[in-house]
Amino acid sequence: MGGVHNRTVASGDRANGGRRISQHISHHSTYVAGCTVTFSYPRYLEAKRTVDDRARHPRVWTAFLEAVSDIAPENPERPLRVLEIGAGVGDLATKILDELESEAIDYTVLDVNADNLDRARERMGASLDMEATQSDGVVATPGRSHRIRFVKDDIASFANRDREEVDGRIYDVIVGQAIIDILPTHISLRIIRSLLAAGGLAYLPIHVDGLTEFEPTVNHDMDDCIMNLYHDTMQRVYSIDESWKLDPSDADGSNSDPPDGAGAGNETVSVQSDGARCGRDLLVYANGAGFEIVDAGSSDWLVRPDPTTGRYVGQEDYFLSCMLHFVEDALSDNGSIDDSQLEDWLARRRRQLEDSELMLLVHNLDVLLRQRSP
Ligand SMILES: C[S@@+](CC[C@H](N)C(=O)[O-])C[C@H]1O[C@@H](n2cnc3c(N)ncnc32)[C@H](O)[C@@H]1O
Repeated sequence: MGGVHNRTVASGDRANGGRRISQHISHHSTYVAGCTVTFSYPRYLEAKRTVDDRARHPRVWTAFLEAVSDIAPENPERPLRVLEIGAGVGDLATKILDELESEAIDYTVLDVNADNLDRARERMGASLDMEATQSDGVVATPGRSHRIRFVKDDIASFANRDREEVDGRIYDVIVGQAIIDILPTHISLRIIRSLLAAGGLAYLPIHVDGLTEFEPTVNHDMDDCIMNLYHDTMQRVYSIDESWKLDPSDADGSNSDPPDGAGAGNETVSVQSDGARCGRDLLVYANGAGFEIVDAGSSDWLVRPDPTTGRYVGQEDYFLSCMLHFVEDALSDNGSIDDSQLEDWLARRRRQLEDSELMLLVHNLDVLLRQRSP
């Protein structure tokens, strides 16, 4: 069923995974309710919020909040330090800052994309009563004194720099939603570990795990073929400082710290991400990368019209149109499928969307990890 269609992604250039590759062509068109509308990556992320909020696994979320509340009193003299990687337009950051009980939090919102960060600043400003400048935000309300730092950077470069500047291991909590699959999972985990304080937590929700289905069936064979090819395109090639490229078979955690000089060299190497296996690979590689799994659970996306109104919730029709756009962008002109067959399939799916019949099911996993003491 078609080969793997790798595209080289320059470090930090582009979002990951088949469902997020279109960030770099942010002005292509897509279709909602029969109208042609401009594709915008920040708008896609905003439309995704209701889908993610429904999907996140409630027990893992509660375990996350409880585990954080155990950490905070250990260091009463300083704020809780949280880093969110690939934070997009800031919706999860807002939810976390809303729900964590800590009085003082330093929250770093990191994303490689400036448009997403601009939207994050605006949206967080509006929902959190935050005063924002270009790079910082402050929430000073009764019982809350939070500082929010907005950083435009690539995760690996950020990790290299932060480690050099402050000897690494500085965050109590690292959050990353739908982001780990930009790199091979064991490398993402090593990068996260290199930035975590001893006993620190990594909350990693909504990681794709092997199933994307549009319903109802258009044509069984064509549906399967297109979804399999689409998953193949999620395996991306990424260039990274060669010192991060460690052996994934190092399962005992003995190499879980980066080697001396990691990040300091100028040599880059190409690595291939695990694509649609990302969710389960977080569980497979956690131990070898020096983490214990605190909890894990499914966080499937299920998008369908609300049965009472017959309409999609919020902006979820736009979200679905973006998902079709991602499939189109991943598979058009890449030689794996006849373009006219793909166009026909997309046209039928878009008609289903216009008629409020289209459904989407994506299997994802949420994982909560704690760094094991060395
Ligand atoms: C699928 S989106 C997820 C956004 C957000 N976490 C959410 O779930 O809505 C992936 C995000 O990671 C960012 N990103 C992609 N590659 C990155 C990298 N190398 N370093 C930092 N951020 C990156 C993208 O700009 C995008 O905002």
